[in-house]
Amino acid sequence: MAATILDGKALGARIDERTAQRVTTFVDEHGRRPCLTVVLVGEDPASQVYVRNKIRRCGQTGIESREHRLGVDVGEDELLRLIRALNHADDVDGILVQLPLPDHIDAALVLEAIAAEKDVDGFHPDNAGRLASGMPRFVPCTPRGAMHLIHEVHENLQGLHAVVVGRSTIVGRPMAQLLLMADATVTIAHSKTKDLTSTCLDADILIAAVGRPKIISGGMVKPGATVIDVGINRIDDGGKGRLVGDVDYDQVMGHAGAITPVPGGVGPMTIACLLENTVDAAIMRMA
Ligand code: GUN
Repeated sequence: MAATILDGKALGARIDERTAQRVTTFVDEHGRRPCLTVVLVGEDPASQVYVRNKIRRCGQTGIESREHRLGVDVGEDELLRLIRALNHADDVDGILVQLPLPDHIDAALVLEAIAAEKDVDGFHPDNAGRLASGMPRFVPCTPRGAMHLIHEVHENLQGLHAVVVGRSTIVGRPMAQLLLMADATVTIAHSKTKDLTSTCLDADILIAAVGRPKIISGGMVKPGATVIDVGINRIDDGGKGRLVGDVDYDQVMGHAGAITPVPGGVGPMTIACLLENTVDAAIMRMA
């Protein structure tokens, strides 16, 4: 039987409706809109698309957005100065520096410079540490969005084996922490894992967050498993560029119980969660 398709666009739209209501309440109470500031360095085409989508969705939910575009050659010092100014700006609730940054800039240093209470990406070590300690403040948006999708299928994760493929600080690690907090039994697999296929085959919930096109094949998926595809890979499909995930969708469709498409699965959920985090930040700052 074909898998249920987990529609991140529809679920993201439902979350955005709730966010828009929270924005209205915030405006009534504080006389201003929550404000997200996005910093984009350089001309990376994918980053430009992501930033454009984030700004558009801010507009749709009533969140004020501001954008700072810096040239690819901007010095680390100048970027850090901008972040410090945004940290001190009373009317800025959330700060997001779009990744990846150019090689001459130390991304870890930049992320740590963002005030933890404005870190709506949840990448600051304080926020990562809080999540790892089971006391989350801002949770990274992609894993938070993936959890919403998983809960569409599984109300309760107790007794389920979740396998996260990928150990990045942006997705893999926080994803594992969230699954643990939800009482799943969690395995993190990565490039040095000995037998990836048998590890994946044991998963009731399989999260692919590697960044390699179609690395998860049909033969790696237990029948009926829930498969969450975090990958967004641009491939040259006979000259016409196309987005594919880390999961071989057509193959896995015949094995999984539920699956997220690419695009239209995790991607729209990431932005919905960014907007939720921004309203959370605004409310926390005004408390
Ligand atoms: N680049 C790819 N995904 C993300 C994300 O979630 N946040 C930021 N800041 N940059 C990204």
